[in-house]
Amino acid sequence: MAPKALPRRFFKLLPEPCMHPLVNIAVGAARRAGELIVRNLDRAGGVTVSEKSRNDFVTEIDRAAEQLVIETIHKAYPDHGILAEESGRHGGDEYVWIIDPLDGTTNFLHGFPQFAVSIACQHRGRVEAGVIFDPLRSELFTASRGAGAQLENRRLRVSAQRAIEGSLIGTGFPYRANMRWLKPYLAMLEQVMQRAAGVRRPGSAALDLAYVAAGRLDGFWELGLAPWDTAAGNLMITEAGGRIGTLAGNPYLDGGNLIAGNPRIFTELVESFAPFLSDDLRE
Ligand code: IPD
Ligand code: CA
Ligand code: CA
Repeated sequence: MAPKALPRRFFKLLPEPCMHPLVNIAVGAARRAGELIVRNLDRAGGVTVSEKSRNDFVTEIDRAAEQLVIETIHKAYPDHGILAEESGRHGGDEYVWIIDPLDGTTNFLHGFPQFAVSIACQHRGRVEAGVIFDPLRSELFTASRGAGAQLENRRLRVSAQRAIEGSLIGTGFPYRANMRWLKPYLAMLEQVMQRAAGVRRPGSAALDLAYVAAGRLDGFWELGLAPWDTAAGNLMITEAGGRIGTLAGNPYLDGGNLIAGNPRIFTELVESFAPFLSDDLRE
């Protein structure tokens, strides 16, 4: 008889299982940042908000969470470099940590419960480890190159969905400078809406990518993302057997327009968006 599955709370009592040291540090940093974010959720309406540009809010919490993440990394690896959303690029360049301390700031500010901490570690230009942490559900998504992707102790696999028809597809609406692509974006959205079972815009690109890796979304696309939105998710999807690329289907180098999904959905999305790609969307 197959052994009975242990309840999930049991695993929470165990130490993080033989993780890659880089993942281990990222997990500690993500948990500390997540704790700070959740502690401040109730007062989200009262925190200082600066507007970097229209519809792009940065709160004190984003900055404080980022400092916690950087502190945790530097305690273990003082020489490693950083590329972080709020404080930019600093430090060494052999190892570079790519950090979004709070992905989904607009959701956070409204008390809309969908946001995450995203941390990736690059070695000589290649992402080796990635962690995406949803502090409200306490869901920890991890990946390390060649060793797969996990949600807690479960191995992640992208979905087995075979066609856009019947699929659940995630997206992010363009805003700020990316509004210049509103027309082609709406043409893509119309295509997907006519074919898919559902389309979702949850508001945290990092978590959207983790959901593709976990098979909760069959595919995802968004225009104009930043490296900190995508670095951890990119590795996670690849390690979970999925594909991620530019709108033209070329390799994705973190940052910019992207399509992700299980291999079939990825190909179908690339094909169905092809008629709407101007030269600058093809890059
Ligand atoms: C944003 C979220 C959102 C996506 C935006 C990102 P932020 O990140 O990921 O889902 O649509 O493109 O900028 O600003 O909340 O870290
Ligand atoms: Ca982000
Ligand atoms: Ca952010």
